[in-house]
Formats: sequence, C-alpha cells, structure tokens
Amino acid sequence: MAAGFGTRMRSARPKVLHPIGGRPMIVRVLATISQLSPDHSIVVLGHHAAEVESEIVAHFGRNKVSFAVQGVPQGTGDAARVGMGMLPDGFSGDVMMVYGDMPRISPQTLERFIASHRESGAPLSLVSARPESPGSYGRIVRNSSGAVAAIVEASDATPAELAIDEINTGVYLVDSDLLRRALGELRPANAQGEYYLTDIVAAACRRGFKVHAWTAEHPEEFAGVNSREELSQMESDIRRETNRRLMASGVTLVDPATAYISEEAEIGADTVIGPNVQILGRCRIGAGVVIEGTAWLREVSIGARSFLKLGVRAEDCRIGEDCEIGPFANLRAGTDLEGHNRIGNFVETKQARIGRGSKASHLSYLGDTTIGRETNVGCGVITVNYDGYDKHPTEIGDRCMIGCDTQLVAPVKVGSDVYVASGTTVLRDVPDGALCVSRHPQAVKTGWTEGWRKRHQKPASDGKATARDGK
Ligand code: UD1
Ligand code: CA
Repeated sequence: MAAGFGTRMRSARPKVLHPIGGRPMIVRVLATISQLSPDHSIVVLGHHAAEVESEIVAHFGRNKVSFAVQGVPQGTGDAARVGMGMLPDGFSGDVMMVYGDMPRISPQTLERFIASHRESGAPLSLVSARPESPGSYGRIVRNSSGAVAAIVEASDATPAELAIDEINTGVYLVDSDLLRRALGELRPANAQGEYYLTDIVAAACRRGFKVHAWTAEHPEEFAGVNSREELSQMESDIRRETNRRLMASGVTLVDPATAYISEEAEIGADTVIGPNVQILGRCRIGAGVVIEGTAWLREVSIGARSFLKLGVRAEDCRIGEDCEIGPFANLRAGTDLEGHNRIGNFVETKQARIGRGSKASHLSYLGDTTIGRETNVGCGVITVNYDGYDKHPTEIGDRCMIGCDTQLVAPVKVGSDVYVASGTTVLRDVPDGALCVSRHPQAVKTGWTEGWRKRHQKPASDGKATARDGK
C-alpha cells in the first residue's frame, strides 16, 4: 500500500519515494516481497500515482507488479479493497498485505511469518511486536483468555489501551474470502474518519474466526517511517548495522560515526576507511585499500592495495589495483584505470581508459581518452575534446612522455613511444616513436625590464618617481 498522503513528511515528494540507504522505501519493500515469489504482486497507488509507478517500473519492469489506483486515499482498509479488485476473478488463497512505508522488512522474516501462519491454521495472521516505545502504532487488544480481539489505533485508544505494549506492525496474511467479507464491513467511524484495515481483526473475531499474532523477533525490521525524524533515525540505524558488519569482517573504520557506507557495498579485509567517507551504491572495494578521508564514491570498484588520498570524488568507474589517487582528484563516469596508475591532485578524468602503470600526476583534464601503458601525462595536459557540439576522442599509446602544458586537440591519435614537447598543441596524429614539438621561437631582450618599469613610472607629489599601484 503506497497511496497515502504521507502528511507527516511535509514533502512535495511522495513518502514512499523518500530514499533509505539510497533506495526509495517502496523499492526496498517490493524487492523483499519479490523474493517470496508471490503469484500476484499488487501496489496500491494514489497520491502522486504516476510518479510512484514510474519509479517502480524503472526498478522492476512492467511484468512483475500490477497497479491499482485508489482515487481518494480513504484509509488503509480502503486501499486494501482497491488492491483486492486487481486480483483475477475467482482468486482464492492467502493475501499478504504490507505497508509501503516499512522498508526494513526482510524476506527471511516474512518466510518465518508465513510458516507460522500456515502452522496456526488461522485464516488471519498478523505480525505484532513489543518495541521499546509503542508510540503511534496501533495496539493489539487481547481478550481475557489472551486471544487477539482487535487492533486499536493510537489516536482512538483509551489511556488503558495506550498502555498496551504489544503493537501492530502492519503485515497481515488473510484468507481471501474472509478478507473480502471483512473489508466490506469496514466503516470510517473513528478519529481519522478513515477505513482502517486494522478493523478486519475485530470483524474476523466477531465471525468467530481465530486470529493469530506472530511476534516479531526483530521488531526494528517492522519500523514504519512517517516523518523526517523517523527517516533519519532509520537511516542511521541501518548505517550503524552496516558499519558493525564491515568491522566484524575485517574493515577498519577510523571513525564509524562519519563513515556513510551503503549496505550494498562490498569491502575487502584490512581496508582502512578514514573519516568523512561516503561509499554509495554497489561499490566493490578490494582488500588492503586505504581511503585516507573525505571521499565521495558511487558505483566504483577499487582493486586491492589502492590508496585514495584526501578528497577523491569518483563515480561509475573502475580503479584497478595498486593505484594512487588524489589528493583532490575527480574521477567521472567511464574512468577505467587498469592498475598501478597514479592520478594526482587536481586531475579530472571522464570516459578515460588508462593502461597499467600510466600516470597523470598534476592538474589535467583527460576526457574521452584512451591511454596505453606506462605513459606519463605531464602537469597541465588537457584533452581538448569538445567543439561546442560534439565530444571527440584522443588516443595515446604506450610508453609516451606527454610534456607539461600540452593540449591535444581531438580527434587526434598519438602513437606509442612518442615524446610530446612541453607546451605543444597537438593538432594532427603523431606516429610511433616520434618527437612532436610546436613552439614559437623564444625571443630574449636583455635589460628590457628596467626600461619597461621606467616607462610606467609617474612622479610622486614629493617629486620622487614611484611605480603605479598594481591594480
Ligand atoms: C498503520 C496501522 C497501524 C500500524 C502502523 C504500522 C492502520 C489504520 N493503521 O498506521 O495500526 O501500527 O501502520 O506502521 O492501518 N495508505 C494507502 N491508502 C490510504 C492510507 C494509507 O495506500 O488511504 C498507505 C500509505 O501510503 C502507507 C501505508 O498505507 O504506506 C500505511 O499508512 P499510514 O498512514 O502510514 O498508517 P499508520 O498511521 O502508520
Ligand atoms: Ca506508517
């Protein structure tokens, strides 16, 4: 169910699209559900339906889920009714209902819930929990013999009911016939004037059906996100857990409080991650890597023993093994370093395939470039790849020395074993083994400076000549 207004988020963005650990809540929930391989998977949309649908389709395609639209969100019970309408005629079997704002549920836990439901023989099961503070969750009301009798929403609860510590997590398994009938009986006679899905519990009890409550072993998995505060709380819970897991597997986090590492990242043993590091998406980081600190990495793979000095930003790229990057390097999408490379300070690379052992140590832009092995790119070398309309490629071979302050005006090819003299503007292809120079003849005028300064002097008020203000 993902149709609600998400009022408590105070956001123009639909609540279920807010990301947790880099992925929208609803995407996380659906990824979990899809691992259970249900016969049908239906998402109830409403508020910002098109936006939510397109995000889901972008992740799961068109075939895995179908969509039902709740015109006006009138409560979770109404949403369930709309969702049921999408099931094929004559469908019978169990229906699992899950809210779109509980992004931490795991497939293993849901499997255990399903097993417990089947074992109980009850036509309606729900997951309950005893969290530290029951807050705004619905309370599970039990009768004198301890059987589940109803769920009371916090906003409708009496003080005695509010004191109940067993809460409704919002995951249900219900026989479809019972569910249809129970949903038909819902009335919006409550504090919020909504059709509450939770009222199916009392409806089932009235008809004499047994309701089974399965208590979650890890209540934190069932936490719902309703506000920005809960969002940040969950984000930091997940982060702490990820950091703990990584440290247990042999990764050093110099300051776990400032290590922001995606759950999807894989990091090898004896890798050291310094302070203020963000590792986002599916990064693969090898063993013995050192990330000194202040780095932003997304969808990057880093080979063993590479060293990232202070201030590296890298996205959608591969850094091979034994590389030395930074300080202050910007590796943009499509950068592919084969290994043993050095990319130094203030070097920007983009769509750059750089062969083993090649280096660009200072102040360069290397875009749409292929560089062979053991080539040295001098300080201030620039690939001139853009003519205002198109991007053009530069190719450089093996074992070249590209002199400082060279511009390579693309498209252009430089062969292997080429020396390009510093300050050269390379306009045409250079064959293997050549020296390429384009220089203006150097003119030297001895004693010129003194004359220049004299011509620019003006008399001061005391009659002495002074230089002009250098503005
Ligand atoms: C709900 C439960 C509460 C439970 C809690 C667990 C009800 C009445 N209450 O409360 O017992 O403890 O979840 O987290 O069910 N939605 C729709 N259509 C609507 C309204 C909501 O699709 O008309 C969707 C929302 O997008 C959301 C989910 O249902 O993903 C839950 O709605 P929300 O308003 O967050 O319910 P809670 O107040 O948290
Ligand atoms: Ca909620």
